[in-house]
Amino acid sequence: MSQLNPAFKFQDNHPPASDFELEVLEGLAKSPKVLPPKFFYDEVGSGLFDAICRTPEYYPTRTESAIIRDNVDAIARCLGRGCLLVEPGSGNSAKVRDLLAALEPHSYMPMDISKAFLQKEARKLADEFPWLDVYAVCSDFTVSMDIPIYPEGVHRVAFFPGSSIGNFEPGDAAAFMRNIRGMVGDDGGLLIGVDMKKDVGILNAAYNDAAGITAAFNLNLLTRINKKLGADFDLSAFAHHAFYNEGPGRIEMHLRSLADQTVTVAGRAIPFRDGETIHTENSYKYARDEFAALAGDAGFRLDTCWQDAGGLFSLFYFAAR
Ligand SMILES: C[S@@+](CC[C@H](N)C(=O)[O-])C[C@H]1O[C@@H](n2cnc3c(N)ncnc32)[C@H](O)[C@@H]1O
Repeated sequence: MSQLNPAFKFQDNHPPASDFELEVLEGLAKSPKVLPPKFFYDEVGSGLFDAICRTPEYYPTRTESAIIRDNVDAIARCLGRGCLLVEPGSGNSAKVRDLLAALEPHSYMPMDISKAFLQKEARKLADEFPWLDVYAVCSDFTVSMDIPIYPEGVHRVAFFPGSSIGNFEPGDAAAFMRNIRGMVGDDGGLLIGVDMKKDVGILNAAYNDAAGITAAFNLNLLTRINKKLGADFDLSAFAHHAFYNEGPGRIEMHLRSLADQTVTVAGRAIPFRDGETIHTENSYKYARDEFAALAGDAGFRLDTCWQDAGGLFSLFYFAAR
């Protein structure tokens, strides 16, 4: 129980361990091999993501945070005070801290798949803001956007920063936003951060930081599979590989095998050719109008878009109607 904030609550809808084994084996049986990015986030992976956000090359976090701080009163006016603020993929809940004082929400619902990290971060936030009801939910937002409470007379707003929407294929992004549209209902809205198309050099540097933290984050997926599924990935026999693919407009992140090798995962032999990759993440970049159209397909109406002076990143507020 939280020590300072008695209103802190936690609901555990974490997917069972068997889903992890099934999805990993399924992904490694595909050609090309693929693993979903949600599996990056165990406690170590979540910590590494925080460290990525502090690298000089990774501009999205500091750019989006500055947009929020510079426009906080206008953002609060758009969202409306007293809302239930739901943040899927809340991570360390860093960005919401800049919104809370101006927005005065009825309650805050951080939602994340990384259970231990979520519990720690949500408790910390609840104790920092003792006046706020914090209801943390551990769940996989690709499976369900259901929330445990729908307080009467309280409008709902989803906050989805960090350009996490870029991890979905565009069609899946529209489907996900449609689920959010269903969760917030007709009186709600969506405040969403989206990374813009830009100079390829800036993009490639952001996913290949000189300190090698993004590489460690990518490779931690293999460590996690070794630990959870008794696998024998040799981490020195795989390398981080990230690049901007101009056609689809996305950063692709892969783990590349440095040799012909066979790895055992949950008792199953998985062969790798020298140079073969596991595709671990996409991060789609959008033009402003392109993204507004996608959200329109999901049933949202563009209300306001805030950008930094360089046009690197956009924060959109979409109303349900
Ligand atoms: C890129 S981080 C962004 C964190 C934070 N929202 C920000 O803007 O800095 C993505 C977060 O989403 C969570 N996440 C990823 N896939 C998820 C899923 N399918 N369901 C729930 N949470 C997920 C991760 O654990 C992580 O905390």
